[in-house]
Amino acid sequence: MSILLLLNGPNLGILGEREPETYGTDTLADIEEAVADEVGPAGWEVRSVQHDGEGELIGAVHRSRHDTVGAIVNPGALMIAGWGLRDALAAYPRPWIEVHLSNVWARERFRHESVIAPLASGVLVGLGAYGYVLAARALVHRGAGDA
Ligand code: DQA
Repeated sequence: MSILLLLNGPNLGILGEREPETYGTDTLADIEEAVADEVGPAGWEVRSVQHDGEGELIGAVHRSRHDTVGAIVNPGALMIAGWGLRDALAAYPRPWIEVHLSNVWARERFRHESVIAPLASGVLVGLGAYGYVLAARALVHRGAGDA
């Protein structure tokens, strides 16, 4: 069984209640289900991990280095200065896609730079929860498991 890592950073565990005008009304459980539905036909399972702390996220990336086929990463605000997470992802050997629910480019200036994005296979922003589904589709399409 191939496993896709779905990694969500700080404040993403309260999706659905958190600023719904910006992040939508889907909960993290809704997103997990949508991603699982997307990759299921390819025979993939989803390992969903959400932490508010960078250290726990780094640990999750380390533990998934050898048994996952790819990852979807929403680093939340760690996009801005999450150098430790960035370095963990640099050592992650599979393709991964950065996702942001909101269009960070249309928001405050401090959200306009990501230390994570230059390492990603691709980046999806501003498409809400559907961005995760599209990222999952892209990873299956490129055959992340064969990478
Ligand atoms: C976010 C965008 C980030 O700037 C913000 O800090 C978040 C959510 C998004 O999904 O739109 O926590 O990653």
